[in-house]
Amino acid sequence: MRRLALILAATGLLVAGCGSEGTVSPLPSKVIGTTPTTPAVKGDPAAGKAVFTAQGCGSCHTFKAAGATGTVGPNLDDALKGKTPDFVHESIVNPNAVVAKGFPPNVMPQTYGSQLSDKQLADLVAFLTQK
Ligand code: HEC
Repeated sequence: MRRLALILAATGLLVAGCGSEGTVSPLPSKVIGTTPTTPAVKGDPAAGKAVFTAQGCGSCHTFKAAGATGTVGPNLDDALKGKTPDFVHESIVNPNAVVAKGFPPNVMPQTYGSQLSDKQLADLVAFLTQK
């Protein structure tokens, strides 16, 4: 009988122990890694076409949807197949981050990231990545 009482007391302690660990938060307090570079602004492909034309992208790039036939840079109809909006955004604001194979660096202007607004960039990316 005495033994049973001991066991009961021990289990009681264990159960009590479980509750004493404090509150466990389901969310990590720190974000590890990077957040996407594409701005949260939603792009409008039709507005992006206007930006593409106004910025003269078509003088260097072929892109059917814009009626552009430039050949200084990659043909964007082929080059951007399967590319993510993040990649396209980065290619425009920071062209030397990844230089397209077979093309020289420093030919594509490095200034679009500062010249264009987040909205214009989002529009361009939406236009270039629309299916
Ligand atoms: C003076 C010529 C020139 C102009 C103007 C130009 N580009 Fe480029 N672009 C290039 C060249 C050359 C490359 C390939 C080298 C590189 O990746 O930087 C390139 C690369 C790119 C790429 C990456 C393609 C790939 O295969 O990875 C994208 C996307 C792009 N340009 C979009 C644009 C857009 C959008 C504009 C207008 C806002 C623009 N470019 C204006 C010359 C130009």
